[in-house]
Amino acid sequence: MKYDFDEYVDRSGGDGIKWERADAVFGGDDLIPLWVADMDFRGPQPVVDALKRRAEQGIYGYTWRPDSLFEAICGWLERRHRWKIDKEWICWSPGVIPALIACVETFTQPGDRILIQPPVYPPFFKVVKEHGRELVQSPLRYANGRYEIDFDDFADKLKQSGAKLFILCNPHNPVGRVWTRSELERLEAICAEHGTIIVSDEIHADLVYEPNRHIPFAALSERAASRTVVCLAPSKTFNMAGLQAAYIVIPDKALRESFNKAIVDAHHSSSNVFAVTASRSAYSEGDEWLDQCLAYIRANIDYARSFLAEHVPEIMPADPEGTYLLWLDCRGLGLGAEELKKFMIREAKVALNEGISFGEEGTGFMRMNTACRRATLEEALRRIAGAVRARRA
Ligand SMILES: Cc1ncc(COP(=O)(O)O)c(C=O)c1O
Repeated sequence: MKYDFDEYVDRSGGDGIKWERADAVFGGDDLIPLWVADMDFRGPQPVVDALKRRAEQGIYGYTWRPDSLFEAICGWLERRHRWKIDKEWICWSPGVIPALIACVETFTQPGDRILIQPPVYPPFFKVVKEHGRELVQSPLRYANGRYEIDFDDFADKLKQSGAKLFILCNPHNPVGRVWTRSELERLEAICAEHGTIIVSDEIHADLVYEPNRHIPFAALSERAASRTVVCLAPSKTFNMAGLQAAYIVIPDKALRESFNKAIVDAHHSSSNVFAVTASRSAYSEGDEWLDQCLAYIRANIDYARSFLAEHVPEIMPADPEGTYLLWLDCRGLGLGAEELKKFMIREAKVALNEGISFGEEGTGFMRMNTACRRATLEEALRRIAGAVRARRA
């Protein structure tokens, strides 16, 4: 079936954060919301149909996870990522963030150190700091519009700090890198040398543009599998974050049992009835939708990049290898962090995520969500260009 991603879908209804809450959260008026990381598109039709059928039953009682769900996930990982897993490796969590918290609490003690690579998804800072652990930061290196891992710094920081845990973001939010096999292997070797456990947040794994390929960290080698927790979910892939379903792949039995205990102790192990139906349907019948969706988003990204190059050269976008997030280097506008935020809200009237919220390395940057109709993106870019023109004058 051919999907129409230009279709206008009215998201009003009171409960969609991205559109309904933008003005209130940003303190603006009639903002175009390109912030929260969900899409403005309807999901795959088989998912919508399956949910309708399930809803029709009218009974939404306590729910378990049938074999068919495990099979759908295993099939997906093998088909899309060439990763053959044992279904026993799959654990559950209502979201990736609760899973990160479970890992922090299970695999480290208060006062232990945990390493992250800013600029990075803001909750990575919080799950460490709010649980009494110490943050160790090995910032990504930015050169010529591209982010790289500073391996010497990474190795030094791990050695000096004795960090017990490393939280990796792959593909990386916000910079859009899809780490290559050789980059991942180098990280893995350093972690193995220092006995560090890897929690690999791969929630954006399915949103990768050719010729890049996502490599699940635990698929690198047996050694990697023995010390890695891989966090995955259908939420970003199929636009179903509101269903609160994540799954966590842990090949090592001892790590898996400890993780599961934390999830059960936190009463996070039960499932949302609609999440089971939607996930199973998406992972068995969602390929066609996803392929078309990725092509649409990639075209949006290309459009935004060429628009900015032509009309707003002060803003330099990254060229993402994955994710629908466009990381904008706005330092050419010459504004401080607070001024930049106000400029986007008051003058351009767009709601973007502030770069500084991803760590101080994000100062002067903004994150734009391109998973929207082309018409919405065009209007947002026109507004930004108009506001910059007015400033220049
Ligand atoms: C890297 C990353 N991890 C986790 C999440 C959120 O996960 P969840 O909603 O499953 O807790 C996001 C959402 O944007 C994300 O970008």
